[in-house]
Formats: sequence, C-alpha cells, structure tokens
Amino acid sequence: MSGNTAGVHNYIRANEEHYDRIASQYNDVPIAIDRSERTVKSLLELYVFDKANITLLDVASGTGLISKMLFPYVRSILGVDISQNMVDEYNKLGDTEGFPKEAFHAIRADLTADDNELARSGKKFDVVICCSAIYHFPSLEEITRILASFLKLGGALFVVAGKPVEPEVVASIFPHNVNHILAHSGGLSEERMKCLFEGAGLIGFIYKDLPAAQKVCDLEFFVAEGVKPSE
Ligand SMILES: C[S@@+](CC[C@H](N)C(=O)[O-])C[C@H]1O[C@@H](n2cnc3c(N)ncnc32)[C@H](O)[C@@H]1O
Repeated sequence: MSGNTAGVHNYIRANEEHYDRIASQYNDVPIAIDRSERTVKSLLELYVFDKANITLLDVASGTGLISKMLFPYVRSILGVDISQNMVDEYNKLGDTEGFPKEAFHAIRADLTADDNELARSGKKFDVVICCSAIYHFPSLEEITRILASFLKLGGALFVVAGKPVEPEVVASIFPHNVNHILAHSGGLSEERMKCLFEGAGLIGFIYKDLPAAQKVCDLEFFVAEGVKPSE
C-alpha cells in the first residue's frame, strides 16, 4: 500500500533509521519538550476527555512525551511508531512513571503496510492523534485515511503540524538538513488539511493555531480536528 517503489526515496526507512539513531537523546531536545506541552494544552482545550472511557491511539508516538501528559485524562493509550528505539523509550517512560502496561504501551508498526499488527487487530479508538509527524509519511492522503480508519464512530482525529512557511525560515530553525525525513516540507494550509480530512470521511473540521513558542524558537504549528460521523 505504501508508495515506495524502486528508485524512489524511502521516507519510511529513512525515518526509522533517523529516529532509531536519536531516540536516546530525544527527551532532552528543548523544542520537542516545549512543543509537546503546547500540543497537550491545545488538545485539552479542544476535547472533553472522559478518564473512565476514552481510548487513545497516538500515531508516530515517539518517546511518549505527549502520551505521558495525556494519560491522566484517558482510560488507555496505545502508541505506535516506526522506530523500535523510540518505542523502547516510550515503554521505558511508562515503566518509570508507574503506568500499567495494559493501559500505556507502544508497539513498532508500519501502518502503511496492509498486514500491520494494528490493522489486523481490528481495534478502534475514541481519539486518534498524530503530532509533529504527518509530514514524515510518503502520502498525506493515505495516512489521513489510515488515521481515520482507526476511529470508532463518533471518534475524533487530531493532527498537529506546521503552518505554511518559507524554506529559509525552516532552515533558520532547523539548520541540519532534514529533507531526507520530510516527505512534505513547507507546511500545511487550512484548505489542504480540510481537503485531507474530508477525503477521509471526517466532518466538523477545525483548524486552530497552537500557542506560540515562548521559551524556544519554533515554527508556527496548528492543530486540526475532524470527527468520524456516528452513522
Ligand atoms: C518529531 S517526532 C514526534 C514524536 C511525537 N509525536 C511527539 O510529538 O513528541 C516524529 C515521530 O514520527 C515517527 N515516524 C516517522 N515516520 C513514521 C512512519 N512512517 N510510521 C510511524 N511513525 C513514523 C518517528 O519515528 C518519530 O518518532
């Protein structure tokens, strides 16, 4: 299902290698910590979490910076990531925090592969999030449809990503070349996100700015929300 053919840059493999390499230092990256805090603040403003009932899927969950902060508000969280080392850090974090494994853990999976473990399980979630990651996936249309496919009827998808920006601004904040892991650079407009969400069958589209970074230098980010119709 993924669009990787011979001779075409393999973003999935490039991301796996990159994040495997940096996983052990990721929790100390100031911009990652700061943006995850601003992300959680926005999600808590947009969605009324019901601790007793909400099951959450965190796609491209990284080391669990966001999952950890959302855990007090949900019944369970499953993280999924392409990098085994990021998944290992996520599960270590869960152990350190004393979270029960059955309610907080991550697995490694390539969700764009037809036979991936999560699709096979048939599990559906009340909330699906994909934060600071959608632009790593080769096809935005494909990953948005996949994210929506894991929602229960009436469930909500949240995507956090960068707003449209000039390449020079990106280069000023991320001086190291990240083109090999970024399948889509330049940011995503409200119109583009709306089109992606509606193409995946979601309704009630919202596109809202993430609070601006105060302590670090970051690009402008947004949170997009869409809901899977109840019937
Ligand atoms: C910038 S980090 C964001 C991590 C986390 N969502 C957060 O906000 O702290 C991007 C994450 O996307 C993951 N990723 C990249 N491509 C992926 C893919 N094809 N499938 C699953 N995860 C992927 C990386 O391994 C990495 O953990």
